[in-house]
Amino acid sequence: MAYTVPKLKNYSSVTLDKTAEKLVALLNQESVAVKTEPDWKTFRDRWMARKEGILTQVNDQWLKAAPKEAKRDVGQRVNQLKGRVEQVVSATLERIKSGAAEAELAAERLDISLPGKRRPIGAEHPVIQTMHEIVSVFRNLGYSVQEGPIIETDYYNFEALNFPPNHPARDTQDTLFVANQESKPRRQQLLLRTHTSPVQIRTMEKMKPPIRMVIPGKVHRNDPPDASHSPMFHQIEGLAVDSNITFGDLKGSLDHAMKALFGSKVKTSFRPSFFPFTEPSAEMLVSCFICGGSGKRDLEPCRSCKQTGWIEILGCGMVDPNVFEFVKHNGYDPKKVTGFAFGMGVDRVAILKYGVDDIQLFFQGDIRFLEQFV
Ligand code: DAH
Repeated sequence: MAYTVPKLKNYSSVTLDKTAEKLVALLNQESVAVKTEPDWKTFRDRWMARKEGILTQVNDQWLKAAPKEAKRDVGQRVNQLKGRVEQVVSATLERIKSGAAEAELAAERLDISLPGKRRPIGAEHPVIQTMHEIVSVFRNLGYSVQEGPIIETDYYNFEALNFPPNHPARDTQDTLFVANQESKPRRQQLLLRTHTSPVQIRTMEKMKPPIRMVIPGKVHRNDPPDASHSPMFHQIEGLAVDSNITFGDLKGSLDHAMKALFGSKVKTSFRPSFFPFTEPSAEMLVSCFICGGSGKRDLEPCRSCKQTGWIEILGCGMVDPNVFEFVKHNGYDPKKVTGFAFGMGVDRVAILKYGVDDIQLFFQGDIRFLEQFV
């Protein structure tokens, strides 16, 4: 861009010095930006061209226009400036020839072929995906969703679920207790909940019947980790309480849910079991949705159902009247209401669904494993 040298306001030495300083600053600034020979030619002409160059302008504007008495002084400055310009212009050329400018350029160069910074968005963990799928099957049946604390009291985890103190059924759930709780009454002692069932009690304390709800969440047990066990895992609890709920409702609801989850071809089967908080209690099996119930896959034994054609999927039963006794004050009179409950492991379902052979993979946080489920 053509540069117009400012006119001098007066010819005092202060004004002359200041204006000259500004020009030198501009000269230096432009010199640094020169990186190639064509750049340098433009730079040189801008300052030194006979016709419109900055030096010529200085000569015309300052020296020629100066009154007689100032000519000597102005002449001296103009000469100084000229010397300076010549020096900087030739030093700039040297810098380019020596390769220093090229190195500067190289350092500033942006490789536009490099990949940009990738910011992958997170995705739902496969266990959480499975959890959401199961929950949504029950939401479609009109169930609401409840949650409860992972650190729980002995009362909710055991006592109110009809596990009396020292009852052997407590031994089936290897419990992780919070330390230094001995001074508290037993029912207030803290532990990591071993199942999602305590939220049955918490919900019935809060809400009057009728209720239908599912309770997803994390649970802990003192199980050493191996391919099928983890001290932390996930469950979904279900609870339906109303004035006339029967075992037939339990079977019908769960059969429908399993077909919605695993496909309309799966069958369900119930076999007697025991849980302190249900009476009668059952384990529910679904026909193996991996091998179609035949026990064989491509003529090989099916590993998912251990060739039995059935997969054990949840525990269930009719809510024990003793459990209702603990929440009777909120409308759960065991003479008036009945209900069914169930609890299923989520991680197992995810393992079967995705064909994963080691539950540990879910919790090691290895991106290479997890990103397969995005
Ligand atoms: N809480 C049981 C467990 O973790 C599972 C269970 C069984 C839950 C029967 C229930 C039920 O609600 O009715 O082993």
